[in-house]
Amino acid sequence: MNILLLGKNGQLGWELQRALAPLGEVVALDQDRADFAQPETLVPLLDQLQPGLIVNAAAHTAVDKAESEPELSQRINADAVAELARWAAQHRVWLIHYSTDYVFDGSAAGWYSEEDASNPLSVYGRTKLAGEQALAASGCHHLTLRTSWVYASRGKNFARTMLQLAASRESLSVVADQWGAPTSAELLADVTALCLYRLRQEGEGAGHLSGLYHLVAAGETNWCDYARFVLQQAQQRGTQLKVGPEQVKAISTAEYPTPAQRPLNSRLATDKLRQAFGLTLPDWRYHAARQIDELLGS
Ligand SMILES: NC(=O)c1ccc[n+]([C@@H]2O[C@H](COP(=O)([O-])OP(=O)(O)OC[C@H]3O[C@@H](n4cnc5c(N)ncnc54)[C@H](OP(=O)(O)O)[C@@H]3O)[C@@H](O)[C@H]2O)c1
Repeated sequence: MNILLLGKNGQLGWELQRALAPLGEVVALDQDRADFAQPETLVPLLDQLQPGLIVNAAAHTAVDKAESEPELSQRINADAVAELARWAAQHRVWLIHYSTDYVFDGSAAGWYSEEDASNPLSVYGRTKLAGEQALAASGCHHLTLRTSWVYASRGKNFARTMLQLAASRESLSVVADQWGAPTSAELLADVTALCLYRLRQEGEGAGHLSGLYHLVAAGETNWCDYARFVLQQAQQRGTQLKVGPEQVKAISTAEYPTPAQRPLNSRLATDKLRQAFGLTLPDWRYHAARQIDELLGS
């Protein structure tokens, strides 16, 4: 199958390049070839490439920056997705897309299901929700996979930042009242490939699987405990730190103001995906510990 992967150099796009390879020929593009800031250019590109499947890992993910560039965010996260979806519907091609826990306001007490009402607090959340809605309205067969707190070993990431700060600073304060599950791009890419394999096995009858799913690692934590976990893992591997896990100070979101407001509760229930695709999602610590091995080269 001819698979078109968009956003190939992002955290998830990079892992998808690897994970999709056994499923067919992957044409992977970056924003130089497929610019989501110019949504009107996407349909001519799709006409030219004629993909048999589209996987979209491109997004405007700079959550704080989006507050000051809402139009760009809207074009990339919503209008461009609408164009992809329109083409996919016309050509009866599956479109795989990713969304975010930031579509919720975080005021619920437990885990959010796919049916729970969305109410984004930020430009990023609003434009990602608009992208989801355009996709659903297009009528194309799709998987919209909502995830949270995505990290990868490549590039900038939370674990690397915590390790650097704990090695160089005298103190470290991290927000402890935002709850969710750190989810590795590796897990997201692997699960995507398994879902696609299932769609392929079901062939023409796979339409019943089309829809919105939550896809995050199992378990829950907050950013402060996640930071402590990272430092603990590093110490166990012999890394010397100025700030140890027990010295990380827990602070509230109110003490760490950012341009974009984040939900305090980002817990996403994954029952729908696990049941529909027969998958087990590992606890968040599994991939988080592997990442420390990769970062420390152990
Ligand atoms: N990161 C998170 O914590 C998080 C949480 C929940 C959901 N998600 C969702 O998960 C998906 C993958 O996120 P990620 O963490 O892999 O994001 P990422 O690392 O920021 O990657 C985003 C990708 O989008 C590309 N992009 C940006 N502007 C573009 C444009 N104008 N045209 C085409 N491509 C453009 C980037 O290209 P360049 O590399 O060239 O900039 C990059 O390849 C997204 O849908 C995101 O909304 C992410």
